Amino acid sequence: MFDFLRTWAGWFLEQFLRLFQKEERHSDYGAFEKRLKASKLADTIPERLAPCISLEEVKKVLDYVWDFGLTDVKHLKAGEAYRYDKTPTRLPRTFQIVRTLDGEFQLILDTKSKINDGSKRKIVREGGAYKKSPKPAWRLDGAFQEYFSLVVHWREEKQTDLILKNLRKEIKIPYQLNSPFVEKKVLGALIAKSDSIDNPKFKMTFYGVRVYGDLMQFIVDGKLKAEMIDGFILDLLQGLKVIHDNHIIFQDMKPENILVCPDPVTETYRLEYTDFGLSHDVKKEYYCFVNGSAQYQSPEFIHAHSKIESVNPKQRELKAALLTTKERFLSLDHYRMNTKDYTDEKLKVHIYPHTANDMWGLGMIIFYLKHNKPATADDWGVINEDPLLKGLFNPDRNQRLTIDEALNMFRSPAYNEQLKQKSPGIKI
Ligand SMILES: Nc1ncnc2c1ncn2[C@@H]1O[C@H](COP(=O)(O)OP(=O)(O)OP(=O)(O)O)[C@@H](O)[C@H]1O
Ligand SMILES: [Mg+2]
Repeated sequence: MFDFLRTWAGWFLEQFLRLFQKEERHSDYGAFEKRLKASKLADTIPERLAPCISLEEVKKVLDYVWDFGLTDVKHLKAGEAYRYDKTPTRLPRTFQIVRTLDGEFQLILDTKSKINDGSKRKIVREGGAYKKSPKPAWRLDGAFQEYFSLVVHWREEKQTDLILKNLRKEIKIPYQLNSPFVEKKVLGALIAKSDSIDNPKFKMTFYGVRVYGDLMQFIVDGKLKAEMIDGFILDLLQGLKVIHDNHIIFQDMKPENILVCPDPVTETYRLEYTDFGLSHDVKKEYYCFVNGSAQYQSPEFIHAHSKIESVNPKQRELKAALLTTKERFLSLDHYRMNTKDYTDEKLKVHIYPHTANDMWGLGMIIFYLKHNKPATADDWGVINEDPLLKGLFNPDRNQRLTIDEALNMFRSPAYNEQLKQKSPGIKI
């Protein structure tokens, strides 16, 4: 009797779960159809889309999707994508239907470098060393929205699984964090296009809503105004708090990985963290392959990586080379002096991911915001006058401010009073 009940209970549970999964799978689908219908009715396209493609061609794409393209996408799961190549579809552009990790369907058109009149425009390579090439793209369901795509290319088939795992991690972390201070991207379909058997080629595209650009670009373009700095610092602190509270170490703190987003309601800008490619989930995996920009790494991290024989020799060489040219790195001399008798074993603890490395990098970004240049060993005078910078640049990582301490300090009236007295009117 008991066994019988157990079997029935199991069956009911299974049916319930199936229904639930089915519901989840289709939950946005009806809304997606409505968005497509709305786009099909559009009689103009945005000014920035117009040079890439005409309204007629956009309509052709939308009609194709509506008439033939939906059967294959209905069953896409969250995180999956379906790509329509322009050759078999005979349409003017390649497009994809992707599903974000929270289940939203999106129709995204690659507008690339080819423009409406058939000629090609030059696309400036923006940032990045991770072989990602930036391309313009547009989301076409609902209101047309400008997207930004980064295409990742690789050739080695045997690396594919590892690369895909990393790309998926990069997408997943922001959804896990689910914060206004963290950018969410979506991944397109995997494309394997080979010229020959010996010459395999793979690519995959990240898509995100196009924002102003990164913080470095914003500064270089002269857009940063003195009155924006405090708001930006608060965004950086709140964002990193979400990251650390969720046991993630960002590991690649630099202005190029901070996006500046215009806020149409307040007509101001706010910041979002992007590029979780090197991020490390303390609960999931433990690896020490880290190669963020050396300029923003903590002195103990650079020092340990440049010294220890057993760690990835390529990285060690790179760090050593950097060190010879960047002797003026903040705190490095201090650190070297204090650890010169250390054994490799004792140094090794500093090669692993640690939140204190992010805190150092945060100090570097905040210094950049406040003083319009990277901090160097000549800047100790200014640093010592600002308790937040002083706390973030503590050479002893155990004494360095944690994110909670930094946030509390920044919000405290005492800190603001002290700063006003010490450095009245910082100029950009
Ligand atoms: N949504 C976006 N809107 C505008 N620009 C973006 C957007 N996403 C990324 N970018 C730009 O693209 C650049 C590269 O992006 P990302 O940091 O993700 O890749 P990467 O730099 O190649 O990786 P790595 O930091 O490992 O070199 C950013 O620095 C920024 O300038
Ligand atoms: Mg980057």
